[in-house]
Amino acid sequence: MKILGIETSCDETAVGVVEDGRVLRSNIIASQVELHSRYGGVVPEVASRQHVRDMVPTLEESLEAACADLETIDAVSVTYGPGLAGALITGVNTAKALAYTLDVPLIGVNHLEGHLYASWLLDTPDSPAESPGFPLACLIASGGHTDLVLMEGHGLYRLLGRTRDDAAGEAFDKAARILGLGFPGGPEIQREAHGAAGDVVPALPRAWMRGTLDFSFSGVKTALLHMAQNRGVYPAGSGGLSEEDTRALVREMASAFQESVVDVMVVKLLEMAARYSARGILLGGGVAANALLREKVRSDSPLPVIIPPPVLCTDNGAMIASCAYYRLRQGEQFSMDLDIDPGLPLA
Ligand code: KG4
Ligand code: ZN
Repeated sequence: MKILGIETSCDETAVGVVEDGRVLRSNIIASQVELHSRYGGVVPEVASRQHVRDMVPTLEESLEAACADLETIDAVSVTYGPGLAGALITGVNTAKALAYTLDVPLIGVNHLEGHLYASWLLDTPDSPAESPGFPLACLIASGGHTDLVLMEGHGLYRLLGRTRDDAAGEAFDKAARILGLGFPGGPEIQREAHGAAGDVVPALPRAWMRGTLDFSFSGVKTALLHMAQNRGVYPAGSGGLSEEDTRALVREMASAFQESVVDVMVVKLLEMAARYSARGILLGGGVAANALLREKVRSDSPLPVIIPPPVLCTDNGAMIASCAYYRLRQGEQFSMDLDIDPGLPLA
C-alpha cells in the first residue's frame, strides 16, 4: 500500500511516499530556512505564504522521485497539528483535495506521533518493526516540544514528562542568537561545540526538576546569556575582544550549553526507561539530529537504541505517511471535515 504523506506544520513543505509503512519511496523537503534566517526565527506569516508557493512543486517532485503517478496512491495523509495554523492549513487542504479527487482514504496525523514513526522507516535490524518490542521509552525533542513518552503499542502513548518552558530546540535556537550564530541554532551550536576544548569556561547549570520527568531549559539559557555578557561576547563587540578571541569563547560556550541540555535529556530518558521497564529507547524530532545526544544515549543506555538518520529527525512527509499506515491498519480514517488543530496533544 502506497501512502502519500504531507507535512507543513512549521517551516518545511514536505511530501513523502511510503510503501507499507516502512519502505521509503521518496522524501522531498522544501526548506524555508534561508527565508527565515534573516529574522533569526520562523515568521508565521512568511511561512504560510511560502507553503502555498512550494506545495504543488514539492508534491510533483515527490511523486516523480517515487516513480509514482497520483493514480497509484492508495491513501493520503497529512499533519493536522500541532503547529502553526496558517502553515498547517495548506497541507490539510491539499490532502483533502487529493483524497477527494482520487477517492482514497484521508488520514490526519499528529506531528509528534509522526516524529516517532520516522524510526519505522529504518531498513536496518534496529528498526522498531523488527525489535525490541513495546513499551519504548521515547524522547521527542523539537523546536516546539520536549516530551518523554512511553509508547505501549501503535497509537498508545503515555506522556510522562514535558518541558515547563522552552523546548530543547527552541533553547538551542535562542542560545545561538545570544552567541551571534545563525538559524536554526541546533546545527550551528553543534558545529561550534565540535571545535571546543571543553574546559575553558565553567559548566552551565542543569535544571533536574527532581521527582518529575519534566524539563526546564530557560535557566540554562539565562545562565548562558549572563556568561556571554560577562565575557563581552553579548551584545556583539561589547567586550572589545578580537575576532579570534570571540570565536574561541563562542565555541566554548556553545559546548557548555550543548553539554547541559543533552545531559539532562539523556539522564531523564534513561530514568524513564528504567522506571517503566521499557524494552528499547527511541529518539525523534529535530534535536535528535544532534551528534552529542545520539552518541551519549547510545553509550549510556543498557537498552537497544533506535534513532533515525538526521534527515528523518527533522520535519518530513515520509514519517507522516509511515504513521498513517499503522493508523489506517487500525481502521482509522478521517472525513472531509478534517480541520487543523494547532494545539493537538499527543496523549
Ligand atoms: O522537528 P523539527 O524539524 O521541527 C519542529 O517540529 O519544531 O525541529 C527543529 C528544531 C530546531 O529548533 C533546530 O534548532 C533543532 O531542531 N535541531 C537541532 C539540530 N538539528 C536541528 N538541535 C540540536 N542539534 C542539531 N544537530
Ligand atoms: Zn517537528
